[in-house]
Amino acid sequence: MDWGMANRLSRIIQPDGHTLIMPVDHGYFQGPTRKLEQPRKTLEPIMPYCDALFITRGVLRSSVDPENAKPIVLRVSGGTSVVGKDLANEGLTTSIEEAIRLNVSAIGLSIFIGTDYEKDSLLNLAKLADDGEKYGIPVMAVTAVGKELEKRDARYLALASRIAAELGARVVKTYWCENFAKVVTGCPVPVIMAGGPKVDTELQVFEFVYDGMQNGAIGVNLGRNIWQNPFPTAMIKGIRSIIHENATPKQAQEIYDGEKAKAS
Ligand code: 5RP
Repeated sequence: MDWGMANRLSRIIQPDGHTLIMPVDHGYFQGPTRKLEQPRKTLEPIMPYCDALFITRGVLRSSVDPENAKPIVLRVSGGTSVVGKDLANEGLTTSIEEAIRLNVSAIGLSIFIGTDYEKDSLLNLAKLADDGEKYGIPVMAVTAVGKELEKRDARYLALASRIAAELGARVVKTYWCENFAKVVTGCPVPVIMAGGPKVDTELQVFEFVYDGMQNGAIGVNLGRNIWQNPFPTAMIKGIRSIIHENATPKQAQEIYDGEKAKAS
């Protein structure tokens, strides 16, 4: 691997081989998502505990100080919205020159396997990987399911993750699912877990993150289940303990409960 590519990846993936990426990119198709209405306010307390941010150029420029930023994974796909016809019909929204200007550590886009726009999104990935390789910037492919959350099973996610890697993604972000090892085993590049809509209890989150890590994921890119929690700092500390300290779900829950008690 070229030095620049390796250097950028090492800014995101920590020396233990793991990473906790904080996504705050949801506004690019959802508008002012709950608890992300003012991204700077959401980010301020939790940023110290993440390893990188997944973010669009607009929110990066408006809401993150360049002197005090974490490594950036720049969201460079979009062009659709939750009120439009089809979330899968994304294009590339940001040039490679802009990514270089912003000094980002990686660039990320969504792919939509099995939709009417499968081919377009895969060709977006191939083009982005060509640009990324030219300048030493790794591409993170997101296996998106749009509103069809039921697609999140091992067969589909393994297929989508493998295709992403084949087309040049250096890292794949996909959902956790039962039999997650099947997804990781079939994917020749590191796999990071997305979070998905907020679930009912903190323990449910700790349990799936733990299971994914035990089955070969290198970390998470998990947003709403952290910053939509009433105690986001407690939540990110609990998740961090699983990612970087090999904590069990029970230990992560104890960290959460302790931090919550301090903050209450
Ligand atoms: C939105 C994304 C998000 O980065 C991804 O969904 C992770 O965030 P969350 O944990 O809130 O689902 O790609 O398009």
